[in-house]
Amino acid sequence: MTKKIHLNLFIHGRGHHEAAWRHPDASPLKLTDLAYYVDLARKAEAGLFDSVFLADQLAAGEDIPYAPRAWVEPVTLLAALAASTNKIGLIGTCSSTYTEPYNLARQFASLDHLSNGRVGWNIVTSWLAAAADNFGGGGQLSHAARYERAEEYMRVVTALWDSWSDDAVLDDRAAGIYARPGSIRPIHHEGPHYKVAGPLNLPRGPQGRPVFVQAGSSETGRRFAARHAEAVFTAQMEKTTAREFYADLKTLAAEAGRDPAKILILPGLSPVIAETQADAERLARELNELSNPAVGLKRLSNRFGGHDFSDLPLDKVLVPENFPDPGTVEAARSRTEVIIGLVRREQPTLRQLLGYLAGARGHFVTAGTPEQIADLIEDWFHDGAADGFNLMPPVLPSMLDIFVAEVIPLLQKRGLFRTGYEGDTLRQQFGLGRPAVTF
Ligand SMILES: Cc1cc2nc3c(=O)[nH]c(=O)nc-3n(C[C@H](O)[C@H](O)[C@H](O)COP(=O)(O)O)c2cc1C
Repeated sequence: MTKKIHLNLFIHGRGHHEAAWRHPDASPLKLTDLAYYVDLARKAEAGLFDSVFLADQLAAGEDIPYAPRAWVEPVTLLAALAASTNKIGLIGTCSSTYTEPYNLARQFASLDHLSNGRVGWNIVTSWLAAAADNFGGGGQLSHAARYERAEEYMRVVTALWDSWSDDAVLDDRAAGIYARPGSIRPIHHEGPHYKVAGPLNLPRGPQGRPVFVQAGSSETGRRFAARHAEAVFTAQMEKTTAREFYADLKTLAAEAGRDPAKILILPGLSPVIAETQADAERLARELNELSNPAVGLKRLSNRFGGHDFSDLPLDKVLVPENFPDPGTVEAARSRTEVIIGLVRREQPTLRQLLGYLAGARGHFVTAGTPEQIADLIEDWFHDGAADGFNLMPPVLPSMLDIFVAEVIPLLQKRGLFRTGYEGDTLRQQFGLGRPAVTF
């Protein structure tokens, strides 16, 4: 069977463009209305997407009056989506920094059971500095410390998911034996950050463990992904850097003793699509005109851990020296590298930079016809830049509708995308094996 493109739908606000919520094409539903999310997940399932994905942040954000976001808790929402869909994978973000490993292992095992094996965990260490104020107020852990803790975290949750053998449950009513003796084991974990006795309080899920997804792209983040991730989301602003990232991560995975084919790389793609190029560009302009530079500036500051950019003139050309050195940034380090890379390459003014970031926060943004978008996807896929894409429609649901109706059939016609689901679990859609119990 020839290799096929994988597609994930990243559901975010009323679309990924910062001003999407104001656009007439955006959904009229509230961001807390289950019907909104069910509709999107069902549409993605009708389009045969591998999965839907929910991000998460553990603080409201100071720009909330002008940039509405409702961070409905992902595990809760995915449980509702599990009941409203049948095949599509359900990927949720949960923080290794701010969640007890026993809670996380239990929630994701529960979701895996309730969805019949469709769950993925986006492992994040939480970059947003303000989150620390909601969890004890001891200040944000450094970038390095967060990743170091996450390593131990992975050992704990993996041991918990493996604490029941696959055949542990006998449920033998006649003999009066529910679980095979000796098949459920404590984990006795004692490390620098966690002390967890185990075992987990429910059987191993249909997938054994959730699919491990990761989205940190700094040097440390890549090494973490190479050891653990089975799918990787990444923000890349052009094909050249996407190819470099792809080659680097596949090499790191091989060096970590893994099969590089079992770590899928899915860069973000935010396409404005219309029947003609002129219409797509007009729509992109409409969105940009609705965005607010003050919101963009606040978001830029957050990415750099709170750095103040307010004294920079909006219309003066930027230079890399206008930004802190990414190596010193304890927040969204790799995204700051993406932003400074763009400044170095294209010398935008601050206004232009904010306009670009308004599109999809540093992911690849483009505008074109369905044919042009299918060409781009095919080109990145065949040119070693992607195993698939994290689709980030600029406006929801309209830009998902047109993608499913117009782009998917083109990809199918070219033999690049599935015409039916491969199986029932997310591991099957992603072409990944089921991990064996490790202890
Ligand atoms: C598509 C995508 C989705 C992400 N979702 C989240 C999220 O939901 N919550 C979060 O705290 N970080 C999220 N991140 C950020 C990363 O997980 C990571 O914390 C951040 O990039 C900083 O780590 P790094 O410097 O290694 O990249 C996301 C990144 C990408 C590319």
